[in-house]
Amino acid sequence: MLSVEDNQTLTRVGAGTPMGALLRRFWFPALLASEVAEPDGKPARVRLLGEDLVAFRDTEGRVGLLDEHCPHRRASLALGLNQHSGLRCLYHGWKFGVDGRCQDAPTESAGAKFCARIRTKAYPTREAGGVIWTYMGPPELQPAFPEFQWLSMPGTHAVPFKILEDCNYAQAVEGTIDSAHAGVLHKSVPWDTPGRLTHERDLVPKLEVEYTRYGLRYGAVRKFDDDRAHVRITQVVLPFYTFIPPDGAGPRKDRRLINCFVPRDDISTWHIQWFFDETQPIDVKHRIDEGGHWLDENFRKLRNIDNWYLQDREAMKTQEYAGIRGVVTQDHAVSETQGPILDRTQEHLGTSDVAIVAWRRLLLKAARALAEKGEVPPALDATLPWPTVRADTKIYPRTRTWKEEVPLSEGVTLARAPTS
Ligand SMILES: [Fe+2]
Repeated sequence: MLSVEDNQTLTRVGAGTPMGALLRRFWFPALLASEVAEPDGKPARVRLLGEDLVAFRDTEGRVGLLDEHCPHRRASLALGLNQHSGLRCLYHGWKFGVDGRCQDAPTESAGAKFCARIRTKAYPTREAGGVIWTYMGPPELQPAFPEFQWLSMPGTHAVPFKILEDCNYAQAVEGTIDSAHAGVLHKSVPWDTPGRLTHERDLVPKLEVEYTRYGLRYGAVRKFDDDRAHVRITQVVLPFYTFIPPDGAGPRKDRRLINCFVPRDDISTWHIQWFFDETQPIDVKHRIDEGGHWLDENFRKLRNIDNWYLQDREAMKTQEYAGIRGVVTQDHAVSETQGPILDRTQEHLGTSDVAIVAWRRLLLKAARALAEKGEVPPALDATLPWPTVRADTKIYPRTRTWKEEVPLSEGVTLARAPTS
């Protein structure tokens, strides 16, 4: 449970809010590279942190991310002509480069002199892992780019997906750091049928949190058999990443999942996922079937809150507990039906929610430290060994602990628990 004030601080992301200021200090995913695949191709509209932006790839292949609205009379530049190293507004022909400089204003007699005075908002971009990234903070404070492990892998083995989630980003993050729900919401058989998988058989995992400089990691420990325990170790990287461990068995035993929840605004979120596997290519079609996230051209799920996720009440009793196709749709259904912004004053938390509580505290503390003392979050530290920060699944003797079995990687130190 949070106070009204804490809930407000956690969830509001607009410019000038404490969380909005914190998020603007990070590089984060803006859109898929495939949305602006072609030089001089169609621009893409992108809403991020409550700001309407337009992305385009210019003649030289550079990606610009500008204020969507022309600084002249505010028509959408997404209608414009992308040609000759710039985007030309359809309305009066004003033309802008990826740096936001005005290159032409054909309706103005002063020509180049007039242009020199006009500049539109432009954010820097980077391309990595099939995604265009951006930094929306003060230019002089731009941090090092996070060199996450999967960003250096070939595109066949690390594949991004983008899905619109119709709710605030924080409840979307929380839905993925809650190991206990896996054996219930995602139960692959009806409720009355005994579970097949470890997490379906043991519904009461023991969760242990370790705070680190980049956020936290937690182990969800379950009984495997009389001699061995089973742990799933999830990494939670500030501000809004969750690294989900592999299955550890079956045909995709080494496939890992990265979730990234970029606020579109206060009430909607870009759920960016990467699946990566060092041992084999990602099967994209299989993944979409498994996730159940068939989408329209605006990345909205075809099974969404308006059609109640096409929940099949007969299937709930005879086939699969949720009656909703695919794990992503199931996750989004529970997060979206919490309301556009979850009212955390009304919750009743239990022991399975410790990782959620820990993440909230960390993020609130980071936002306040920045707002009140100008303190930069440790997750921005350029020396963090990102390629070694990984989620893991392990079966190990019960005489040992999971922390002994999977120690923190070198260069990552423990951090103190935030006090609330
Ligand atoms: Fe889930």
